[in-house]
Amino acid sequence: MSDTPYDESFVSWFRAVTPYINSFRTKTFVIAFGGKAVASEFAKTLAYDVNLLVSLGIRLVLVHGARPQIEEELREKNLESIYHRGYRVTDAAALDCVLDAVGSVYLEIEAMLSQGLPNTPMANSRIRVIGGNFITGQPIGVLDGIDMQYAGKVRKVDAEGINAQLGLGNIVLLNCEGPSPTGEIFNLQMEEAAEAVAIAIKADKLVYLTDSQGVTDQAGALIDAMTADEVERLLSGGEWLSHDIRRYLPCTVRSTRAGVGRVHLISYQQDGALLRELFTHDGVGTVVTRESLENIREAKPDDIAALIALIEPMENEGILVHRPRELLEREIEHFSIMLHDEIIVGCAALYAHSEEEAELACLAVSSEHREWGYGEQLMKRIERRARKMGIKRLIVLTTRTEHWFVERGFKLGTVDDLPAKKRDMYNYQRRSRVLFKTL
Ligand SMILES: CC(C)(COP(=O)(O)OP(=O)(O)OC[C@H]1O[C@@H](n2cnc3c(N)ncnc32)[C@H](O)[C@@H]1OP(=O)(O)O)[C@@H](O)C(=O)NCCC(=O)NCCS
Repeated sequence: MSDTPYDESFVSWFRAVTPYINSFRTKTFVIAFGGKAVASEFAKTLAYDVNLLVSLGIRLVLVHGARPQIEEELREKNLESIYHRGYRVTDAAALDCVLDAVGSVYLEIEAMLSQGLPNTPMANSRIRVIGGNFITGQPIGVLDGIDMQYAGKVRKVDAEGINAQLGLGNIVLLNCEGPSPTGEIFNLQMEEAAEAVAIAIKADKLVYLTDSQGVTDQAGALIDAMTADEVERLLSGGEWLSHDIRRYLPCTVRSTRAGVGRVHLISYQQDGALLRELFTHDGVGTVVTRESLENIREAKPDDIAALIALIEPMENEGILVHRPRELLEREIEHFSIMLHDEIIVGCAALYAHSEEEAELACLAVSSEHREWGYGEQLMKRIERRARKMGIKRLIVLTTRTEHWFVERGFKLGTVDDLPAKKRDMYNYQRRSRVLFKTL
């Protein structure tokens, strides 16, 4: 086989997505999109992408809206569309339009998901789509003196029923209608229905497809990650945000605080946005989490396999000293690890040589995640741990990263400056540089 640049990029792409494939298996995602998305280019790739996610073992719930289609129905019947506080004031005539429009959009999506995928790698796969009365609605009631009539909100979600279907490998497709125990049907907000479902089934991810690339700052630059607190601060102003983003952001705050792992806001206009958001480190939209995505913690025995996958390529290149699995198993508590989106992207270890001297070892960041400041954060973590132990001087041995450490306060020393035990073990073939930092 030829070793063309295409091959190389394919191999590195495949390696880069593998950790995501691994960590997404058996996870539950809710994907929410409005009626505008159904009428857009996104719909063409929906079947393929949904199929791909399901074949990777992801449990999938889709929630759709139908706002423009409802508007169209109302226009055709010469009915006026009235909104109050973002909710459609839904009288009996408007409810008829809602039911017609939502019903036909539902069938349209069901048809899209049922189509075969000829001439694609997914040619023979079949998606089983299940709908049902999984959401119960209730009236909003009277708001500021206005009777909202059939405008509703979610009363409860049949999480058990949805989970049973997901367990069978089916996709659950839900709309924005909420029947009530009184036999009436209420018109729900798509984004609120998706939020309620995601919270009820404890979804790992909730993805909103929006009319914008994600959340942008005032200058129009994309904000790739935000915490719920940051979203809340933004919502107190943020007049420049798009219509969809303004509607969906409050749901991102509530759902992340209620336990949904991550809420993503991406564009339905950008081909492949869903896959790129889910399977790349940078993503293409905005991800909202309760706390910051990056996270450093001490390593546990469960992390050993991922740790080996991280450091092995650097050991093979001779950048790091080889550490056999048994050694890692014995010494795992020496390691601190950096996670991004729950994937291990960096590590560093601390070994005390005496009460006052310790070594910072095996500082490594995966090649796809370098120059994000992870190396420095890991070094600071090790320094903090060392200080807590009363360590006064940190040692590091490195063959290729001398300048990196010097720029961060380490001073070049000699082998003779090492503690006796370490000096005796010094590998003269590796000829590592010896550096020290006073803490
Ligand atoms: C060294 C290492 C941990 C840095 O990780 P990182 O997350 O990219 O580090 P940071 O983002 O905090 O720092 C990046 C900066 O260091 C610089 N840098 C990276 N490698 C460097 C090196 N070998 N020498 C000097 N500077 C280096 C980058 O150019 C960047 O500079 P900038 O901030 O001016 O753009 C990473 O490159 C790595 O894993 N290297 C292989 C393992 C290794 O050598 N470990 C040290 C021996 S224990």
